[in-house]
Amino acid sequence: MKLTSEAIRTRVEALAPWFHNMDLAGVITAPDHFLHDYPSNKWARFRDVVPEDLSGRTVLDIGCNAGFYAMEMKRRGAERVLAIDSDERYLDQARLAAEVNELNIEFRRLSVYDVAQLAERFDLVMFMGVLYHLRHPLLALDLIHENVAKDLLLFQTMQRGSETTFVPASDYDFFDVDQFDDPAYPKMHFIEQSYAGDCTNWWAPNASCSQAMLRSAGFEILEHPEIEVYLCRRGQKPEPGAVYPTRPVNGRALPR
Ligand SMILES: C[S@@+](CC[C@H](N)C(=O)[O-])C[C@H]1O[C@@H](n2cnc3c(N)ncnc32)[C@H](O)[C@@H]1O
Repeated sequence: MKLTSEAIRTRVEALAPWFHNMDLAGVITAPDHFLHDYPSNKWARFRDVVPEDLSGRTVLDIGCNAGFYAMEMKRRGAERVLAIDSDERYLDQARLAAEVNELNIEFRRLSVYDVAQLAERFDLVMFMGVLYHLRHPLLALDLIHENVAKDLLLFQTMQRGSETTFVPASDYDFFDVDQFDDPAYPKMHFIEQSYAGDCTNWWAPNASCSQAMLRSAGFEILEHPEIEVYLCRRGQKPEPGAVYPTRPVNGRALPR
């Protein structure tokens, strides 16, 4: 049975505050959002790089929040969309939004650190707006590569600092230090206290750092349609991988 406007409004208010500002059958979830029509306004800037037709494909949305992106993927015909988040209140928002929009999406409370429990790989993994909320961001990318990514990864992070791409040389002499002072050198700003009133904002990489972390976790960057957004393909992890080497790598002696 279709929910009445009044019933939707009551449930939207009970689940407030909302981060995803959506129109649920005439009820606006976050009318005073500081980013306005978010994430619709963001999505408009990169929607063209995502396959228009996802029929027959499986999608995993990690950190789905109120389900905006999961619902867009279902609208593109994805056969199965699994959306996970660590926060049950956001999942309840997403369940309501999917119910109002009559979209069949599976929601599950699960942390990105536990994606191995899914024991399944997905054609498209979305990891949008979560990395900088994590205390262990590179571990999360490694776990996604290791356990759930089959083909495409759509990635977004808050970025701060230089937007210039700097690809470091494969090695530097111990006494070469100037590159570290280049603002474009891959850098991740650590936020010990709070940023934008949110104490879960732990990190703010610059553009080179986002790109380097993706490569280091084994993702090839295919498209960079928007300043914070990257469409990637799962590839091989570069040597020596995520583990500190216990044997010579590429014929090089072990560090002492
Ligand atoms: C800034 S919102 C991004 C929401 C959405 N993906 C987007 O791009 O609009 C971050 C989301 O990540 C979720 N989150 C934070 N830590 C998480 C974790 N360890 N595992 C899964 N989700 C997490 C939060 O609950 C929140 O819904």
